[in-house]
Amino acid sequence: MTQESDRRAPSGNRMMRPRKYLMCRPTHFDVTYSINPWMNPAAPTSGDKGLAQWKQLHDALVDLGHDVSLVEPVPGLPDMVFAANGATVIDGKVLVARFRHRQRVDEAPAYLEWFRRTGWSEVKQAEHINEGEGDFLFTGQEILAGSGFRSDLRSHDEAREFFGRPVLGLTLVDPRFYHLDTALAVLGGDEIMYNPAAFSAESRAVLAERYPDAILATEADADVFGLNALSDGRHVVLPRAATGLAARLRERGYQPVGAELTELLKAGGSVKCCTLELRA
Ligand code: ARG
Repeated sequence: MTQESDRRAPSGNRMMRPRKYLMCRPTHFDVTYSINPWMNPAAPTSGDKGLAQWKQLHDALVDLGHDVSLVEPVPGLPDMVFAANGATVIDGKVLVARFRHRQRVDEAPAYLEWFRRTGWSEVKQAEHINEGEGDFLFTGQEILAGSGFRSDLRSHDEAREFFGRPVLGLTLVDPRFYHLDTALAVLGGDEIMYNPAAFSAESRAVLAERYPDAILATEADADVFGLNALSDGRHVVLPRAATGLAARLRERGYQPVGAELTELLKAGGSVKCCTLELRA
């Protein structure tokens, strides 16, 4: 983790709010199948390196003052480390995922069980294909919902009804950015950053109108998964290689925190994918 910005730039008056996150240790992490263009089962992966990088992210979040819970990893589910996909949690309500690919389908019961066991009262598994916070990002005002590759369009209506919050649907068009959280990150308040090239022309127009002050990622930053980031209102944890975005964030008074998750990127995931926010 790097926090060069501590010395270089003031953090303005950005306020961090401590969050609760759910993570899953990558005990069984591997790339054994391919369900997105980043995954090549023939390329070598190192379980030890993946675990060490994940642990650095985990410890950085704890050091920043966040509360991190862990769900037990299940053997045979190598993608379970990507906890963001397990559910969407807003106002204490939990909408558990329904995965598109058979290789990930069995992750949902593990998340369902965790939420039931830990005392969340309103827990329901989605009826329609819904890949949790991979495709559903809450700004505090509205839910930004992705479709095109994973979550079914009907899951947007289901989320609107379940949470009773407005939902803004966005269409993804580039298979490398197959989940909304690979193309867009919520920074706080009404601020977001995104990769315009990942969206349909119509969704680009909607985003430009609704979020005129958004930070737009360059292709270079998007390609290193720079948008797979999470913000606590002040610190923005993002892949370390996304140096352009880090500079833009610093200009706006955020404190970028670089994380090295190159091993997990071989499965098409990074910072945000590894963390599911639990909103009471
Ligand atoms: N291999 C996983 C998949 O393709 C990666 C998921 C990454 N998670 C995310 N929130 N984008 O489903």
